[in-house]
Amino acid sequence: MKKISKVLTGGVAALATCALAFSLAACGGSSSSTSSSSSSSSSDNSSSEASLNLVNDGKLTVAAELGFAPFEYIDTNTNQPTGFDVDMATALAQKMGLEVNYLPNQKFDTLVPTIKEGGKADVAIAGITITDEREEEVDFSDPYLDSNQALVVKSSSSDDDTTLNDSSKKVACQAGTTGEEWIKENLPNAQLVALDDVTAAMTGVETGLYDGFVIDLPVADNQLKESFTDLKVAKEIPTGEQYGIVVSKDNPALKEAINKALQEMKDDGTMDQIETKWFGTTL
Ligand code: ARG
Repeated sequence: MKKISKVLTGGVAALATCALAFSLAACGGSSSSTSSSSSSSSSDNSSSEASLNLVNDGKLTVAAELGFAPFEYIDTNTNQPTGFDVDMATALAQKMGLEVNYLPNQKFDTLVPTIKEGGKADVAIAGITITDEREEEVDFSDPYLDSNQALVVKSSSSDDDTTLNDSSKKVACQAGTTGEEWIKENLPNAQLVALDDVTAAMTGVETGLYDGFVIDLPVADNQLKESFTDLKVAKEIPTGEQYGIVVSKDNPALKEAINKALQEMKDDGTMDQIETKWFGTTL
């Protein structure tokens, strides 16, 4: 753990140095005084930056919903985004010779439209499951993490995925998620309550406002451990989802560069380090 945070801190320091150097037009290789030769052998990280069509030069601008611990959330001490995805995005940007820049928190169901419309963010990273429906709107990087869903109920509840399929039951989800899709398909008789905020949904189950909540299992596990000790996972739902980074269909070069950097991170142990930091083990 100590070693990992040291490595990551080192990464941040390197990034800061890079950002400083960039202002002197020495980092990133896309300064106007440099020839446009793409043969670069010294730093293939930066050779293609000019063709990546970034919304801000030298930066990987990330859109996210930041209420999804341990993947992305606001550290209350620093007021900065933190989490598994944030470390991954930071390392990814560094590999690409870029600085990571998170936009302010936005609702989950606006992320795919934001990337589709373009102009605001280069990528959306938010534990976003690769689905056929979304792939009609945007592109995804190669998968970086496997996940399932969880049905969360009050500890004292005897409800499960059979009893909740009833018109007297309210089942919450985060709007626009695969959890919402699962409820629509599997609990068609229940009253579906789509909320923007995971914490609001968890609190609602705890206070008896809702009978259940469907959310990604790693997030449910984290919330139950950290904040909501009066809740339990009534059922693990093996949806077999995979998270990917959302990129515009108009920017295939960026997708390619991200996939290359992701593969490097898998090969050189960076992903393992980030997994161990956030999950105590490699996944
Ligand atoms: N994996 C689920 C999905 O893609 C939920 C993701 C929610 N992410 C978030 N940052 N709130 O629909």
